[in-house]
Amino acid sequence: MKRVGIIGWRGMVGSVLLERMRAERDFDRMEPVFFSTTQAGSAGPRLQRASAPVGDARDIGALARMDILVSCQGSDYTTEVYPKLRAAGWSGYWIDAAKTLRMNDDAVIVLDPVNLPLIRRALARGIRNFIGGNCTVSCMLMGMHGLFEHDLVEWMTCATYQAASGGGAQHMRELLTQFGLLNAEVRDLLADPAAAILEIDRRVLAKQTGGTLPMENFGGVPLAGNLIPWIDRDLGNGMSLEEWKGGAETNRILGRGAGFAAAATPIESLCVRVGAMRCHSQALTIKLRKDLPLEEIAGILASANEWVHVVPNERERSMRELTPAAVTGRLHIPVGRLRKLSIGGEYLAAFTVGDQLLWGAAEPLRRMLRILLECGSTHGEEPAPERASTVNA
Ligand code: HSE
Repeated sequence: MKRVGIIGWRGMVGSVLLERMRAERDFDRMEPVFFSTTQAGSAGPRLQRASAPVGDARDIGALARMDILVSCQGSDYTTEVYPKLRAAGWSGYWIDAAKTLRMNDDAVIVLDPVNLPLIRRALARGIRNFIGGNCTVSCMLMGMHGLFEHDLVEWMTCATYQAASGGGAQHMRELLTQFGLLNAEVRDLLADPAAAILEIDRRVLAKQTGGTLPMENFGGVPLAGNLIPWIDRDLGNGMSLEEWKGGAETNRILGRGAGFAAAATPIESLCVRVGAMRCHSQALTIKLRKDLPLEEIAGILASANEWVHVVPNERERSMRELTPAAVTGRLHIPVGRLRKLSIGGEYLAAFTVGDQLLWGAAEPLRRMLRILLECGSTHGEEPAPERASTVNA
């Protein structure tokens, strides 16, 4: 059995990954070894069979004894440890969800329901770095898969409504603390049906702007009762890094643009943080290459993969099925609000929601691991990976 090192499994994405791996019985197919940057020597997570004590996630020798490493630790860890591993001669498979390696020539962004052929070709070429994409991109592509598969997208714009979890666990805590403090500020007035709503609003605003809410994680501005129309670094050209990823990573996952035979599809984004917990939502405007009937478009979307679910463009269904609260903790990706815009039959509106900890983070990694574990056995199509060399080998 292949030895699989799992790093960062106590964090939010790592915990979701472990939950999914337990549910899919992935541990039956591997010899897992858990690594930690802070708790080496402690007991690993509870599994059906015993695993070795937790290893030190900075011990290059121990890491290099693994055939496959899966890291949920974040980009700083990848930046620090990955080059040392390769420099030490490790030739195993590296899987993570960090931005560090995503755009490198020797890495593939994995979203196998959408780009399994590209992953298979990369495996055949000896590529050993398989990186989960930006959460917004992965969730959008799972929903819009059918249109891209049929090469129907001439261009697309995405207006995102991104959840607090995209920033990390502390951001979710900060959001909830802010909500609680805002509520506490007006609790007496809320209990009094005669209280003036404008007085409630005034007090909430005073609390939001008074500097006493915890706001460190969201860059010094409140998210509760507010939104933040900027995510990640300022690229200095009017675009945020998150918005750049929308175009660059989508094309790379699809095998389009620089380095590929097909031209890039123009994809523009405006990314906004909202007070949702862990689902990213996106309003999309798509210029289609041809004017297809809406029913045909719905059919193409619905049949692209087993997780996408087309919601009829009706008020009740949209309000119940096309929301973060309806999607949290679930792998299905609803796509709805489908309609042709008044500007022409090639212009399509759509809205989609995805759990950014599942399809946006843990699930593409878990499935890539499964592809590697099944190499040469179940599927047989992929070349069997060479056994990882150790540092001293
Ligand atoms: N960058 C994303 C966000 C999360 O801040 O929501 C991870 O891709």
